[in-house]
Amino acid sequence: MIVLDDTLLIGRGQVRSCYRHPQDEPLVIKVPAGSQKAQIQANHKEMKGYRFLLRRHGWLDCISHCHGFVATSHGEGLVCDCIRDSDGTISQTIWDIVHSRNKCDLDNILAIAAQFCAYLAEKDIWLFDFNLKNIALSRQSDNTCRAIILDLKGRYDNNEFIPFSSYIGYLARKKRERRARQLIERINYFYAARHNPQPHCPLPSPADF
Ligand SMILES: Nc1ncnc2c1ncn2[C@@H]1O[C@H](COP(=O)(O)OP(=O)(O)OP(=O)(O)O)[C@@H](O)[C@H]1O
Ligand SMILES: [Mg+2]
Repeated sequence: MIVLDDTLLIGRGQVRSCYRHPQDEPLVIKVPAGSQKAQIQANHKEMKGYRFLLRRHGWLDCISHCHGFVATSHGEGLVCDCIRDSDGTISQTIWDIVHSRNKCDLDNILAIAAQFCAYLAEKDIWLFDFNLKNIALSRQSDNTCRAIILDLKGRYDNNEFIPFSSYIGYLARKKRERRARQLIERINYFYAARHNPQPHCPLPSPADF
């Protein structure tokens, strides 16, 4: 069994926590954040989502690849690629960058996000979960950034009453266009909330948007 302690923690989402693999630097292990059904099922939904993407598109550069399950001190974990910058630092998500107190180059982030969404549309890649914490920006040696999706469970985590958009191409494309617009709106919104906060207006979290 692999023991995961807090020194290895990279980040938390709503249903999972993500740790560095203690023995294997290029990998992370995602574990349920609690014992609720959605938390326990998330890793299996991601593995299904990953297999679907591989079947449909073959090898993709824009996702964190999944490698299977391991037993950990925090329950069953899913092993995935750890997304890093070219200097080995673990890459920040768009949320980390936009929400940081340091000024970031908003126009550059917006341009990278727009190009990324255009690429997904051009290749008709079935990814929709454009939460700011689900996209890492991996800084390359030439100082450009590559956007990589960290969370692939979206297709099997569809909250629509009847999840047609997980199966019908036209609806999937419409959903991706909508989510791409939301991504740009969210980046602008959270950047403004962080850097030009309005008095008496608490900072939102991505889940509030
Ligand atoms: N492959 C990875 N490489 C590096 N960091 C990662 C990776 N996967 C996840 N993370 C970090 O862990 C955080 C949570 O991961 P993830 O999105 O998988 O959790 P989740 O609970 O399923 O998310 P959600 O809240 O969207 O349901 C990310 O925001 C990121 O900071
Ligand atoms: Mg996530």
